[in-house]
Amino acid sequence: MKQKHKQLHAKSINQPEEFWADAANQIDWHTCWNSVLDDSDAPFYRWFAGGKMNTCYNAVDRHVAQGRGEQIALQYVSPVTDCEYSITYRELLAQVSRLAGYMDSIGVKKGDRVVIYMPMVPETAFAMLACARIGAIHSVVFGGFAANELATRINDAKPKLILSASCGIEPSGVVPYKPLLDDALLQASHKVEHCLVLNRSQLEAELLPQRDRDWQSAVAAAPDIGCVPLDATDPLYVLYTSGTTGQPKGVVRDNGGHAVALTWSMKHIYDIDCGNTFWAASDVGWVVGHSYIVYGPLLVGATSIMYEGKPIGTPDPGAFWRTIAKYKVKSFFTAPTAIRAIKRDDPNGNYLQDVDLGCLKNVFLAGERCDPDTLHWSEDTLKKPVIDHWWQTETGWPVAANLMGYAPVEVKAGSPALAVPGYQIDVVDVMGDEVSANESGNVVIKLPLPPGTLTTLWQNEQRYQDSYLSMYPGYYLTGDAGYKDEEGYLYIMSRIDDIINVAGHRLSTGRFEEVLCQHEAVAEAAVIGVKDALKGQVPLGLVVLKHGVTLNEEQLNQELMALVRQEIGPVAAFRLVSAVQKLPKTRSGKILRGTMRNIADNQSYKMPATIEDPATLDIVRNTLTRMGYADAHV
Ligand code: COA
Ligand code: AMP
Repeated sequence: MKQKHKQLHAKSINQPEEFWADAANQIDWHTCWNSVLDDSDAPFYRWFAGGKMNTCYNAVDRHVAQGRGEQIALQYVSPVTDCEYSITYRELLAQVSRLAGYMDSIGVKKGDRVVIYMPMVPETAFAMLACARIGAIHSVVFGGFAANELATRINDAKPKLILSASCGIEPSGVVPYKPLLDDALLQASHKVEHCLVLNRSQLEAELLPQRDRDWQSAVAAAPDIGCVPLDATDPLYVLYTSGTTGQPKGVVRDNGGHAVALTWSMKHIYDIDCGNTFWAASDVGWVVGHSYIVYGPLLVGATSIMYEGKPIGTPDPGAFWRTIAKYKVKSFFTAPTAIRAIKRDDPNGNYLQDVDLGCLKNVFLAGERCDPDTLHWSEDTLKKPVIDHWWQTETGWPVAANLMGYAPVEVKAGSPALAVPGYQIDVVDVMGDEVSANESGNVVIKLPLPPGTLTTLWQNEQRYQDSYLSMYPGYYLTGDAGYKDEEGYLYIMSRIDDIINVAGHRLSTGRFEEVLCQHEAVAEAAVIGVKDALKGQVPLGLVVLKHGVTLNEEQLNQELMALVRQEIGPVAAFRLVSAVQKLPKTRSGKILRGTMRNIADNQSYKMPATIEDPATLDIVRNTLTRMGYADAHV
């Protein structure tokens, strides 16, 4: 099987045009492309230039046209509201074409941006598809982000319309979204003309006359509208993700390459065909939700589960398994942190005893490194293949994976297996030379990236080049470090930048530091990601106070935690902070975050030759030990 995988991979690299033209035949085109790969503007590559198609047509209309209108497209499962219902492809078409009709009626046109700030309800998928239908570019913002983060994204995307809801439901209770939206719109310098608000029965939101419309009544009054043929290279969406600065990066995805790549991945990686049921237990605010709750499953005519709940506590750690059995899920995708949460609450798998998982063929894990313990526990408990796979918001679909629908290979714990066809992955040293097998280095991908990957950063080609392409000309810098073994299995071990991964959520330590420095008592701040048994990593902040500050430590810490929650949002999970007299820095003033992280996690480290004051490492170690991290004896 490894040979079969490698042969397909070699074909994709040696004959990319033939390979992707073949894959492109699996979707419907309005007009065929002029060239499969246009490299005339390298390093900006364009897939299927000249081709015209519509992503919504391929994800919705064509299934109805081909007689699958009565099949379930979306299965909504919401343990937090005690509600479950299904939506057929025919019903989806009706909802999406009317919502698109509403957008058209208020003047939203091809190329306009639409921000979607919504919880995990089917209307969120309708909203994305309605944008795709008319060529508006959607930008979904995760509900766990605060008003300020939403405002930053509004200012960058400059939407004509925002779609939102009165509330989300978290285990802690109802989370009002509308006040966050109102606050974000007050903070944003870009003025938004129209907001469409879904009022949920758990909480009615007050609507502002002129600007806000009620979702149900607006859509009921709107005409149906058809799909607009779009250039394959037209943007489908912008999805903001954390970079190393506080300003998020707007990853731009095109229409044609995206539809082709996702369709290919559903079959080859996830082993999902038309009529199968697929479940990605993530949130539409993340790339996993875009690719594998909404677009991927619908493009192949599968049934996708939309789950509004958590792996534990809604109501218990058996919720995932019961949902899989009830809806006959064939492939299931979640984050390792969700498995760790279930393992913590149900270590012996008692909740599996009365559940028949006969329908389930494979479990896929991604979003963070899958530690071998989590892998083995899932394999032993579920008795199914558990497949780690590696990708990023930027790539939009897996870069390294086991092709479960084509040629499954041996699973090696800690590895997301082999390079997926389309991606030529190298591990290089700082000079750009390939390192030997089992030697660590920076993980890069040779250009061109395959279809479906980012085409640029929204309105910022320079940042795209600087962030990803300039360090190693001809290669895309993933930002991850790792190694390959002698069989080509990849091991992704850490980030090379200041991005941390908290419960599968990607966050920027730079953004945390910006927020901490807003506090009047703080002169300087450093935030690192430290190991956490449940969430993989959690942020830990060390602050240096301004001279003469008299706040007591407990009060200061509470204020700093509240500030991060208010400015970044609850998803930041910021609960570890302490004041220190001084931070360790190089003589040129760079904070030694990597060394601090090693101390916190009890990893070995060398005293940096350029350190300004070696005593600062003792200060930090003592503080971290007091916080329950660095072991004082190491
Ligand atoms: N809207 C509003 N608030 C949200 C939110 C949303 N969409 N999503 C999360 N939050 C809030 C939570 O309520 C919580 O708030 P709290 O501090 O008041 O309790 C906070 O953000 C952190 O949430 P979360 O990361 O979910 O942590 P948790 O401690 O509540 O739950 C896990 C821990 C492991 C169960 C949870 O992180 C999880 O299910 N992880 C899976 C991650 C995943 O699927 N990632 C996608 C990548 S594949
Ligand atoms: P995001 O863009 O939020 O999907 O985060 C992408 C980052 O998460 C990657 O660059 C990795 O650092 C990490 N990541 C995702 N999946 C894996 C995996 N399977 N193994 C190791 N790290 C992963």
